[in-house]
Amino acid sequence: MQLITALAIAPILATASFLSSGKSIKNSKRADTWGGSVSLGPTQSTIVHAVTTIIPGDAPSSQNGELFLWPGMSNGTGDLIQTTLESWSDNSWCGATTGQWCVRASVFGSFGQLDGTPSPVSGSEKVKIEYILEDDNETWTQLVTNADTGVQLSNYSLASGPYMTGYGTGTECDDSCTGTIAAQQYVDTTITLADADTTFGGTIATAVGASYTGLSSSQDGKIWTIDTINIPAM
Ligand SMILES: *[C@@H]1O[C@H](CO)[C@@H](O)[C@H](O)[C@H]1NC(C)=O
Ligand SMILES: *[C@@H]1O[C@H](CO)[C@@H](O)[C@H](O)[C@H]1NC(C)=O
Ligand SMILES: *[C@@H]1O[C@H](CO)[C@@H](O)[C@H](O)[C@H]1NC(C)=O
Repeated sequence: MQLITALAIAPILATASFLSSGKSIKNSKRADTWGGSVSLGPTQSTIVHAVTTIIPGDAPSSQNGELFLWPGMSNGTGDLIQTTLESWSDNSWCGATTGQWCVRASVFGSFGQLDGTPSPVSGSEKVKIEYILEDDNETWTQLVTNADTGVQLSNYSLASGPYMTGYGTGTECDDSCTGTIAAQQYVDTTITLADADTTFGGTIATAVGASYTGLSSSQDGKIWTIDTINIPAM
């Protein structure tokens, strides 16, 4: 499998410079352009859990390059946890038909890209993407399920450490990709911190036409929720 998903959280980088990966991309292709994004960070605490549900809209019916949608989490120097919805010129590798995405749990790091088994996803499907810090305080488990049926679509676990400080969405267009033809929506995004951080909400940033509604916190700033994140078509 070719691996491009890349320059970590570049849209976040644009708005929150802490998340610079500084890593080279395995196949040395580079990200060309980015769609809209919403990001938060860095927190003064650390992230211990994050969950969102993406409704991706239809994938382009043909693809000139590679197009990736992902909610990403990193600390700027370590691994990028990033379940990706992917559009390639031929998406049959995951069983997708025209207009469907491939989804897989994935980690980008100094080793390159590591992926869980993929599944096809339709544009109207609600894909729940959960990042869980396990009890060892090192291992992050990604669980990807259909939010309506609970059927598992992908998963992956890797020890990436307990110091995650930023979370954000990415719409990544590589190699002159055919861009998104529909809007993306992320609903019920909830980020749980190890300790309360009342400043975290103030770090939220949007780029390239993206917007959000319903940012709120509970437990004095330990749990942060965003009702909707709206990313326009490119
Ligand atoms: C992850 O998926 C594999 C199949 O690919 C399955 O055997 C395993 O139980 C899953 N792990 C979790 C935590 O759901
Ligand atoms: C990011 O996490 C890695 C892995 O735990 C750690 O080695 C590194 O020091 C962290 N970087 C920052 C800036 O916290
Ligand atoms: C888990 O990691 C955090 C760093 O974010 C540290 O503060 C905490 O003490 C660690 N907990 C355990 C049980 O190792």
